[in-house]
Amino acid sequence: PRVAIVFGGRSSEHGVSVVTAASVLRAIDRTKYEVLPIGITHEGRWALVADEPARMAISDGRMPDVAQVAESVEGQVALPLAPGSRDVVWSEPGAAPKVLGEVDVVLPLLHGPWGEDGTLQGLLELSGVPYVGSGVLASAAGMDKEFTKRVLASHGIGVGDWTVVRPREWESEQGRTAARARIAELGLPLFVKPCRAGSSMGITKVKDLADLDAAIEEARRHDPKIIVERGVEGREIECAVLEFEDGPRASVPAEILVGGDFEFYDFEAKYIDSSEVEIPARLSAEQTAEIRRQAIVAFEALGCEGLARVDFFLLEDGSWMVNEINTMPGFTPISAYPKMWEASGVPYPELIDRLLRAALR
Ligand code: DAL
Ligand code: MG
Repeated sequence: PRVAIVFGGRSSEHGVSVVTAASVLRAIDRTKYEVLPIGITHEGRWALVADEPARMAISDGRMPDVAQVAESVEGQVALPLAPGSRDVVWSEPGAAPKVLGEVDVVLPLLHGPWGEDGTLQGLLELSGVPYVGSGVLASAAGMDKEFTKRVLASHGIGVGDWTVVRPREWESEQGRTAARARIAELGLPLFVKPCRAGSSMGITKVKDLADLDAAIEEARRHDPKIIVERGVEGREIECAVLEFEDGPRASVPAEILVGGDFEFYDFEAKYIDSSEVEIPARLSAEQTAEIRRQAIVAFEALGCEGLARVDFFLLEDGSWMVNEINTMPGFTPISAYPKMWEASGVPYPELIDRLLRAALR
């Protein structure tokens, strides 16, 4: 089968997506799949890109960019927009489109808005092209931290204390006063987050309410809708879910060990300084069974398909709380998702193969 690997994109996780794609381009079984790498620039231009994972890496602490492989960008690419058509079209501005060929399946390795949030999934649904991962609703609900919490809480999963500051509320003085009062009731410390973003972009830990407004403004650079969560003390444990022929299965869990200099698992700690991931997480058999159970409940509650990584906190009283769910988790060399499957007996090439086969079923 021919696979279009789509990466980059318009969100603030563009660079992470490029690193994810590089890692998948290395791991995919070339004897089984023909690969068409398609990059989306920050501006949203789709382009055919050279198949050179080595050039898509983090170097000197800088994230890669689709524009970096620009000399090999041949033109603009449009995925099929006619239902039932599988033709990928390449067009240069002002020139007649040229058919690049058929794709059997799209692997949308995009993180964040305009990729992981149901928008791209909707485009592919309209086009009638199979794609890996969750559909429109699960992608949208998984991207939005408010909707994730509402759905999971209604299925009995712990989600902690939180409040949302909607765009219109923050834009009026009266609204701000009401929002600040609600937030103050949560207690300290707080995590102020863009409601729909990823890789810890735009997140601030607030220990003093005097710093709240600045934290909200920072988060609003990523998303006008803000979520404020009460910080919790606990261990950060992740669990990977993958769809098999007989349904979703949960992996061996991983524990995130954030380096001592970091207040939390922020962007730098994640990708630049490489925090450590311990697999399997040191948990009792009962704890492991419980996190795996809850990961599947979360996956099913949101209606996920193909894959997801569910991120938990194990609280000091022994209870579990979901921090978030990622419907297209990172596949970078330091990402936990593929490592958790390796440790669960699914090597990287088989993982990619399973994802593609699930999409083609
Ligand atoms: N949002 C990043 C890519 C992750 O969850 O792995
Ligand atoms: Mg995330």
